[in-house]
Amino acid sequence: MKIEKFGVEYWMDRYETTCRYNLAETCVDSISVNQLKELVAGDEEALKTLESLTTLRLSYGEIPGNLDFRKGVASLYRNVSLENILSTNGAIGANFLALYTLVEPMDEVVAVVPTYQQHYSLPQSLGGTVKYLHLRREEDFVPDTRRLREMVSDRTRVICLNTPNNPTGQLIPDEVMTEIIEIARECDAYILSDEVYRHLNQEEGYVPSIVDRYEKGISTGSMSKVFSMAGLRLGWMVGPLELMKRAYNVRHYNMISCGMIDEVIGGIALKHQEKILRRNLGIIRENLKILDDFVAGEPHLDYVRPQGGTTALLYYDMPLSSTELCTLLMEEEGIMLVPGDCFDMGRSMRIGYAFNPLELKTGLAKLSEFLRRYD
Ligand SMILES: Cc1ncc(COP(=O)(O)O)c(C=O)c1O
Repeated sequence: MKIEKFGVEYWMDRYETTCRYNLAETCVDSISVNQLKELVAGDEEALKTLESLTTLRLSYGEIPGNLDFRKGVASLYRNVSLENILSTNGAIGANFLALYTLVEPMDEVVAVVPTYQQHYSLPQSLGGTVKYLHLRREEDFVPDTRRLREMVSDRTRVICLNTPNNPTGQLIPDEVMTEIIEIARECDAYILSDEVYRHLNQEEGYVPSIVDRYEKGISTGSMSKVFSMAGLRLGWMVGPLELMKRAYNVRHYNMISCGMIDEVIGGIALKHQEKILRRNLGIIRENLKILDDFVAGEPHLDYVRPQGGTTALLYYDMPLSSTELCTLLMEEEGIMLVPGDCFDMGRSMRIGYAFNPLELKTGLAKLSEFLRRYD
């Protein structure tokens, strides 16, 4: 099987553990099991379960996913039953499962880019033909449905999108999503909506899930970003029953089940989703003010202010490629950002801003010092 190098993951792997200022993190400030205990204080049953994890008999557990965990996932949607949900190893596992189940040679896939590379490199390696719908900075990174309409055909199997979007932090507006759904319906295509940052909105409210809007909608999500528990490596795929049955068979071939301990913790976290969300919305909204002030004071930088998620693209005016600039930043200053090159986004760098505010301020101050050299 031929598959492209996964640019972002190689970059993260190379520098994540050695950088001094990590401005590349995409999770909202990760928490420990003890912090989860503090968040669920008052729920004696949950606390008892967490205390007794060491006595849990470690079998394969419930194969499609622990019942409480799947109930928690169902509660994130308006109208989803347990049979429509499979637990996976992260949203990365969910995207893989969905695309592997769906895409066959000769199929066409539309990927809205920039995005997580899985959305196009995986279908390509499965023999699909990928068409790219580019988000443009001058259009505030909103998908152009006119171009989408020209791109689809009766061979279009799936349209892949990601809202809130990584790396731009932009949302697909409701009316644009309605048009995308209409286009998908006309050519009978699935929509795979990677909703791994769903709920993380700067304004009140959040993006409705595709599965609550479209009969051939597939939603993928996880505990990693929104719920600050990437270490669980736990996510989910939600979709129409006929597809979930096929996906279940594929899943038997590569995972059997997710980790029992992970699912127990995930179930408790989702039961208390409101508390975690309150914490995390506080973090992304306060931190965006810090980032906004920083960008406003930096003559070499500019951005489209993110509306959600945890990332944004910073555009710069220096005569360096983004890989050169990010390598320089890392090697001279220990500052980690992700080159726009990893997303085919020219002179830009992706920043992740949803972690500890003090660390964010320190990292940005260092970045400022570096940029002064170019004044
Ligand atoms: C858009 C998107 N989808 C999926 C993932 C995978 O996340 P996880 O497997 O941790 O849930 C990421 C991680 O960065 C992402 O940004």
